[in-house]
Amino acid sequence: MTVSHQLSARSLSLSYGDRTIVDDLDLDVPAGRITAIIGANGCGKSTVLKALARLLSPHAGQVVLDGRELHSLPSKEVARTLGLLPQSPSAPEGIAVADLVGRGRHPHQRLLARWSARDYEVVAESLAATETTELADRAVDELSGGQRQRVWIAMALAQETDILLLDEPTTFLDVAHQVDVLDLLTDLNRDRGTTVVMVLHDMNMAARYADHIVAVRAGRVVAAGAPADVMTADLIRDVFDIDALVVDDPVSGTPIVLPRGRHHVLSSAAASAGAGPTLSGASA
Ligand SMILES: Nc1ncnc2c1ncn2[C@@H]1O[C@H](COP(=O)(O)OP(=O)(O)O)[C@@H](O)[C@H]1O
Ligand SMILES: [Mg+2]
Repeated sequence: MTVSHQLSARSLSLSYGDRTIVDDLDLDVPAGRITAIIGANGCGKSTVLKALARLLSPHAGQVVLDGRELHSLPSKEVARTLGLLPQSPSAPEGIAVADLVGRGRHPHQRLLARWSARDYEVVAESLAATETTELADRAVDELSGGQRQRVWIAMALAQETDILLLDEPTTFLDVAHQVDVLDLLTDLNRDRGTTVVMVLHDMNMAARYADHIVAVRAGRVVAAGAPADVMTADLIRDVFDIDALVVDDPVSGTPIVLPRGRHHVLSSAAASAGAGPTLSGASA
């Protein structure tokens, strides 16, 4: 599949009531790549993602999809292009897993049309990919947080959109399932060219899995680029207000951020280990 949908935000301003959260934000989502949005709690990550998915109307500026203003496009066209997994999705009471995942097929179905063989196939594949096949008949509201999160990811996959927006997709997941989900998104990206944009609160997972990092502070993009260029101790201090050591990941070579608390001073061994660790510069 060749995919080249271009999604971007131009001078975007977003507010809730008269409270402006995002002001004059510019953002380009690299097509066919994996982008991670990072930033402190409440800085506006979910707000930006909702605007990119058209769930929130800008009060100024615009979201542009393939050169056209997102809000001017037909809903079905948007739904077939952009899928969103919100931060706290809610399922209809009592709905079964397979039915919820099946709802991901709506953008592909005609009104009152019967389910196609393709619909069944995609639902089965989405359940299998997220290891939720055995849960197919269970009620979503009876699942554990981690199981439910995987079911929501299955629903997002079933939409088969070229752009997938995910708000903290690894929430509630143990580390094995976090890695599974991020590997799965990487497979989608590599095999189908799906453009992935995800909010991740784990900076190290972001650095390892994303091609492109967008760091947000107080509703503004403070840095954007490859993890190795963006994830510096200065940037981490700026965005999260913490001192951190940034070292090279021995596996992937991408940056690893080691936050330092007040009780943790740099050991002389770490300081003299010339092969990698970059002191945040804030030890004085
Ligand atoms: N529905 C809403 N109504 C009013 N304020 C909101 C709403 N959603 C988020 N906010 C506020 O907008 C700011 C940004 O929130 P959010 O985008 O959810 O942050 P993040 O995802 O980065 O943690 C916060 O101050 C939050 O309280
Ligand atoms: Mg959020």
